[in-house]
Amino acid sequence: KKRYTIAVLPGDGIGNEVIPVAVEALRLAGSLEGLELNFEELPIGGVALDLMGVPLPEETLKRAKQSDAVLLGAVGWPKWDDGPKHLKPITGLLQLRAGLEVFSNLRPIRVFPQLIGSTCLRQETVRGVDLMIIRELTGGIYNGNPRGFTTNEKGEEVGFTTESYSTSEVDHIARVAFEIAKQRRGKLCSVDKAAILEGSMVWRKHVTKMASEYPEVEVTHLLIDTAAMDLIRHPQQFDIILTGVMFGDILSDLAAVIPGSVGLLPSASLGDSGPGIFEPVHGSAPKHYGKDTANPLASILSAVMLLRYGLKEEKAAKRLEEAVFDVLDRGFRTRDIHTTGTILVGCKRMGKEILASLNARVFAT
Ligand code: IPM
Ligand code: MN
Repeated sequence: KKRYTIAVLPGDGIGNEVIPVAVEALRLAGSLEGLELNFEELPIGGVALDLMGVPLPEETLKRAKQSDAVLLGAVGWPKWDDGPKHLKPITGLLQLRAGLEVFSNLRPIRVFPQLIGSTCLRQETVRGVDLMIIRELTGGIYNGNPRGFTTNEKGEEVGFTTESYSTSEVDHIARVAFEIAKQRRGKLCSVDKAAILEGSMVWRKHVTKMASEYPEVEVTHLLIDTAAMDLIRHPQQFDIILTGVMFGDILSDLAAVIPGSVGLLPSASLGDSGPGIFEPVHGSAPKHYGKDTANPLASILSAVMLLRYGLKEEKAAKRLEEAVFDVLDRGFRTRDIHTTGTILVGCKRMGKEILASLNARVFAT
């Protein structure tokens, strides 16, 4: 029997509703494929600030590093919103990404046929969309230096952050994107602001250079503003969107309107080696917390990515992914994706139906 240790970091708010559901789904999907998954729960974010006064306790980072994969919920809680940066829940997440050196952030956006009615765009515009945003995660403006606060000649307060991308940083993330593009439809669109930003100029130059190593991949470049418009007007044209940390952050929330809910979007953050972080794209949603209304599918689909990209257990990944399709086929919907004629359920019930689908397949085969 293969054994794996999964570090479970539910974090704040609805992270504590969706992650337990994803853990049970993961446990069952794994065990049906003969895997023994051991889950170790660790604090991060506001919960960690409450418990130990820091957003990422040393112990959490240490154990995350020793694990085979990290399943994370969300961080952020109003109580901690106005504090200094080192006491913000999201600082814990940024430190975890840096500590695990997960430089590539994979964010697939798919329109499932069962959920075509959940989009607020035209159905014919989004039907069949299957794209992946590949976002650089540990460099760029989020991690730029110098940065800080200063005073200008007029005595005003000034905040500043540097945006930079180096050859090696661009090559590192571009390599990931080209390799994935090769296994998909072979189309890669690189998004930058090369008309203005120096980091983007280096980015475009080196993506173009690498393209010559991949004749089978069709490469295009878009400026971020045009990309934002095209993503919503003609999303079907995209396969891989390769971009930096900030543009990728914005585009992935924007892309959530294509399937209709951010509650459907999973992500994987990977390094060259060591455990990856698998987390829903959505946040802690304080307003929705405690009502059992959150959609656990983004977390369950993150668990699918954990099995696929983290543990390389494709069979278990497929099994769990098919359970998601089955639950959608049977008509179960959380509030964010509910349409007339479907069955409105809460977070826990959605989880139970996933387990039922997983179990039903055992009897069917
Ligand atoms: C995301 C989030 C994070 C980011 C925040 C919480 C730091 O918005 O994962 O998209 O900007 O990377
Ligand atoms: Mn974001």
